[in-house]
Amino acid sequence: MLWHDGMPEVRKDFFFPTAEHAEIMEIQDGIYRISGFVKEYGISFNQFLIDDEQPTLIHTGPIGMYNKVEEKVKEVIPLEKLANVAFLHFESDEYGGMAFLKSKNVRLLCSDLSSKLNLTGWMNVPSDHISFWDNETLKTGKRQLRFLMTPHVHHWDSMMIFEETSKSIFTSDLFIQPGMNKPVVSEDLSESMIGLYKAVGIFASEKPVRQTAQRLAKLSPEMVFPMHGSCIDKSMFPKYVRAIMDNEFAFEGKLLGQSLEIS
Ligand SMILES: [Fe+2]
Ligand SMILES: [Fe+2]
Repeated sequence: MLWHDGMPEVRKDFFFPTAEHAEIMEIQDGIYRISGFVKEYGISFNQFLIDDEQPTLIHTGPIGMYNKVEEKVKEVIPLEKLANVAFLHFESDEYGGMAFLKSKNVRLLCSDLSSKLNLTGWMNVPSDHISFWDNETLKTGKRQLRFLMTPHVHHWDSMMIFEETSKSIFTSDLFIQPGMNKPVVSEDLSESMIGLYKAVGIFASEKPVRQTAQRLAKLSPEMVFPMHGSCIDKSMFPKYVRAIMDNEFAFEGKLLGQSLEIS
């Protein structure tokens, strides 16, 4: 909040994340990555479309990217066919493009915690949604989504989605990397992942993150789909899990790259 003559003044310098353009690529049979690079943040924002009898979009991107993401979704399916929009924790890059909900048959999917903490209790906010507890599943046609509650990675309401048919795991902000790299990474970027976590301060502590990384490793995913950076295939994934187990990366006084004096 800025103050002017003792009165609060609305800030006009807020940054509204957007990308100059978005690209789409089919990463695995029927699973698409829609990605736009936001140069002010130095990271890509990725959304994932799982095509099936009932197609699912996993996170929407912030509202500033809505038109570009919508354009790419429509290259694969008509918008009216979109059945599910899932967000994995309550943040604008997860769920800012709420306009996807204007698509007439769409259902909003989230964790039970997101439902109880973030989607109810507001004035004039549409609250129709379906929420899931740990290990509950949803059939979308040939595929099945399994919902994993992953609290405190990095938010209280965090969940992840495992698409069981293709063994794809959608991890939101876990295993993210900065920069503009290939859609599927063929090199080890885990060091830059750890550096990003330290600079941005998204995890309060390592423990829940490590527990989740180990749980995901036991699922033996074929492909990992983080929200920022490249997808990680099964040959590279153990290196990222190892980096989470072996390094410290919890908040130590830096937020979005800025130091905060907290002593
Ligand atoms: Fe997040
Ligand atoms: Fe994110």
